[in-house]
Amino acid sequence: MTTLDELKELAIEAQKKAYCPYSNFPVGAALECNDGTVFTGCNIENASYPIGICAERTAMSKAISEGHYDFKRIVIVANTADYCSPCGMCRQFMFEFSPELELICLNANHDAKSFSLNELLVHGFNGSSMSNR
Ligand code: THU
Repeated sequence: MTTLDELKELAIEAQKKAYCPYSNFPVGAALECNDGTVFTGCNIENASYPIGICAERTAMSKAISEGHYDFKRIVIVANTADYCSPCGMCRQFMFEFSPELELICLNANHDAKSFSLNELLVHGFNGSSMSNR
């Protein structure tokens, strides 16, 4: 069982590994699965800008590629005055697996603000939206 404080520390450690020479905007994430397993991620940029990946999708891709599909909460940290909430692409990516995911966003002071993914992506698109194909 990982405490919220431990999860925050893991996200802060992951943020230190960010590869972000183009934006200089390091982001870290720590994702807890419903079975208790934790995966971390950071943003990874590229000279071909659009192919960079956000910290949230790095963490979730690591989890999925290890056979974990069911997620409880994710801590996201950035050096921002306000809380850094995930971009639209990450919201959609995470919604596919866990629409009820809890997002705990940390600002530069590591104060936390929580959201539900459902709240950030209202009426999100998922597989059941395709039932009339
Ligand atoms: N970024 C993330 O990793 N997560 C977010 O929630 C917001 C943005 C990254 C993408 C890019 O590497 C940098 O931050 C600036 O947008």
